[in-house]
Parts: sequence; C-alpha cells; structure tokens
Amino acid sequence: MTGNRPKIVVTGRIPEPGLDRLRAIGEVWAWSDDQPISIDVRDRELATADAAVTLLTDRVDEAFLDAAPNLRVVANVAVGFNNIDVDACRRRGVIVTNTPGVLTDATADLAMALILMVTRRLGEGERLIRSGTPWQWGMFMMLGTGLQGRRLGIIGMGGIGVALARRARAFGMSIAYHNRSAVSADIAAELEAERLDLDTLLRTCDVVSLNCPYSPETHHLIDARSLASMRRDAVLVNTARGPIVDEAALAMALRDGTIAAAALDVFENEPSVHPDLLGLDNAVLVPHLGSATIETRTAMATLAADNVVAVVSGGSAITPVG
Ligand code: GLV
Repeated sequence: MTGNRPKIVVTGRIPEPGLDRLRAIGEVWAWSDDQPISIDVRDRELATADAAVTLLTDRVDEAFLDAAPNLRVVANVAVGFNNIDVDACRRRGVIVTNTPGVLTDATADLAMALILMVTRRLGEGERLIRSGTPWQWGMFMMLGTGLQGRRLGIIGMGGIGVALARRARAFGMSIAYHNRSAVSADIAAELEAERLDLDTLLRTCDVVSLNCPYSPETHHLIDARSLASMRRDAVLVNTARGPIVDEAALAMALRDGTIAAAALDVFENEPSVHPDLLGLDNAVLVPHLGSATIETRTAMATLAADNVVAVVSGGSAITPVG
C-alpha cells in the first residue's frame, strides 16, 4: 500500500488501456523495457506489492511469492497459467486469474492459418522466392494437399478447440476431438463432431491440432510412440504449449517421414527451437503469435487489470483459475 492506495506491480509491457484501469485505483509500478525484468528489480518492487500483473514468461513460484508478502492477486495476461504455481498461491491465499475468452478467436485464427500454411507449403514458397532461386509456374510445382473432405482431430476441445472446429468446417473438414468431457449436445450437433479416444484420433485424423492446457498429464503427450501411431500423411499443429510435444522426437519423425509435416507456434524450450527443426522444409515455425493481435492483447490486458481491480476493491475475481 502507498497511503491507502494499493501497489500494483506489472512485470512487463502491456497495452496502455490495461495500465489506465490500474492507475485509476492504485499506484502502478510497471516494467517498461522489452528486455525481461531482472529478479532483483522484480523482488524489490514485489516487497510492497498488493497485486501483480504477470506475463507467461514470468515464473510465479515460491521465490516470487516469498518476495511478495502482501500479495493478494496475481493476474496473468494469458489464458495458460502453467507458469504459475497455483497450489503455492492458494496456500498463501493469493488469488490467481487468467484471460480466457478474449483470445479465443485470435488463437483459433492462427491455428487455422497454420493448417493452411503447412498443407499449402506457404513457408517453403516464401523461402523459395526470398532466396532468389529462379522459379516459374509449373503444373507440379510445390503441390500441397486440400482440406476438403479431410478430418481434423482436435486434442483439447475448450473454447479455442471449438472455435477452430467452426473455421475448419467452413473449409470442408470433418471434426473429431479428444477431451476429458464431451462438448454439449448443441455444439456436437452443430459441428457433427465425433469424440474419440486419443489413440483412435491419432491413428485416423489427417490434421491433429493441440489445443489443450499444459500440465503434468499433457507433458510429451505427443512423443515418438504417438507420432508413430499417426498416419504417414498426417500433419501436426501446436498452438497450445511447447512441452506437450517431445520436440526431438517430432524433428526425427518429420525427417524420417513418420508424419508428413508440422506447424508450431510454441516450442518446448522457448525461445529456443530444436536445431533439427530449423532445416526441415516440412516444419512451419512461428514465434508464439496465437493471441498476437492489437485488439486481443488490449482485451487481455484490460481483463487482467479488471481482475486486479475487482480483488483489491474487495470483490471477487472475474476469471479466477483453480
Ligand atoms: C498464450 O499462449 C496464452 O496462454 O494466452
């Protein structure tokens, strides 16, 4: 507290509308550099913080919480919260919030874009032109595969999975999914979606998209064994979290033709990318852009800020996790 105004620490750059909401109710200390905040500076500011707004690149662990004895809320500007030790927060009475909903469309758009990019070999095409290699239209040049009549298997059928399914249906794909619980009867009927066990989905789908949260249960869900069970002409798309895929096993499967191609927005050890992937033409690689639109990042920042405002004003969090 500064006077009777709460102190709010923002550990990285976020869009101004989020900061404006926070400044209206408290004293905001915000890291404003593109480089990550140092632990020393972070801990110095956390020492007197009532609230923290964090990014998915922050680790909110026991050390973070030890540095912040007055903390009441951690508002993560992301839908995923695998960067946060939610149990440790709960034990200390710290509320954790995330930003579901507001990034659903942007992330589903990106997943659909990657499906198109990888099946139509757009990365390869870009590289060809930029490399200055002579080329000419050709009947058999850089042929990809169409999506019409193909089956999309979605692992993790939450809001983003459903939004991706709607897009894929518009491209003529049929939908299968694997999820702990079934989607509602209305959504299943709208999408004509078939719920499958994981092995059947992997064995039968043309495109497999990961849209599930990262947790100990989904660590390396896609490993050498599951890749071997996929069709040889299948494509894997990951817009969820990198460590759901064993990246070394994936690189090997792409090199050996165990599966046809992959498109990745997220990586096992971000920002590093497994070096074997870099030289593979059948791997599309983009730098964690799922929610990266101006509108979406602004909505994420304002929702995180609204969560802080709600909690420090004595109300309930809007989108708590756990
Ligand atoms: C992005 O990856 C998010 O979890 O919001």
